Amino acid sequence: MTSVIALEDVWLKLGATPVLSGLSLTLEPGEVLALLGPSGAGKTTVVRLILGFIAPERGSVRLNGAVASADGRVLQLPEERNLAVVLQELALWPHLTVAGNLAFGLEARGMPRAVREARIADMTRRVGLAGKEDRRPAHLSGGERQRVAIARALVLDPQAVLFDEPLTNLDVSLKRELLALVHGLLKERGVSALYVTHEPREAVYVGDRIAVVGDGRVVQTGTLDAIRASPANEFVRRLLNDLDWSGVAAT
Ligand SMILES: Nc1ncnc2c1ncn2[C@@H]1O[C@H](COP(=O)(O)OP(=O)(O)OP(=O)(O)O)[C@@H](O)[C@H]1O
Ligand SMILES: [Mg+2]
Repeated sequence: MTSVIALEDVWLKLGATPVLSGLSLTLEPGEVLALLGPSGAGKTTVVRLILGFIAPERGSVRLNGAVASADGRVLQLPEERNLAVVLQELALWPHLTVAGNLAFGLEARGMPRAVREARIADMTRRVGLAGKEDRRPAHLSGGERQRVAIARALVLDPQAVLFDEPLTNLDVSLKRELLALVHGLLKERGVSALYVTHEPREAVYVGDRIAVVGDGRVVQTGTLDAIRASPANEFVRRLLNDLDWSGVAAT
């Protein structure tokens, strides 16, 4: 089976800082892989590599088996990669309505209007924004804006969705609600996704497998049970030790 995303032995410095030192990971079709690691571990750098905004100095990024970047070169431009992204800062178009934000990427792909509108209506309903299609982001709550960003990524039906800490800074109940929404959407549509977080509970909730990042590489990959049964080191053991949701608010 060809991996949707495969990073192989990726090395990268930013300025003088070594950020990635032999990082490898794979995302398999229909899988949600949680990329878990502390702040500064290089998670956003991995997302930018996959999107094609930067190239690895050494090593390769493959998308569906094809080399997209390798050894200092970007071979597939970001716009040629069929990927969608949900970022912490959301980056919604402020001048467009909810429907307009969802339509943007579909228009760019030349989708006929009727097909587009049906798809947007379906997605808007699914994320709980029915009746709010004509509002602009400034006239939505924080949680509703989050829903728009999630819907905008998934409506594209991309090869994979990359989430980079999309739920940080939300209160616990909203975080849990949106996490359930994201998880439900990904699973019912069989979407392949990389979900980046520094929060173990989020990683465990949403990830079919968890890849723990530390020291510029993936230290261990597996299901929660497998990792817990034999953690690669003390750092991994501690990270996945206490997974009670009650502490989420403090993170
Ligand atoms: N343009 C840059 N020049 C130099 N160093 C950089 C640059 N961008 C990022 N870094 C460094 O690279 C490291 C990894 O950054 P990255 O943003 O990938 O971390 P992260 O795991 O996403 O962290 P967080 O959880 O806080 O978002 C950090 O130490 C950061 O300071
Ligand atoms: Mg980051």
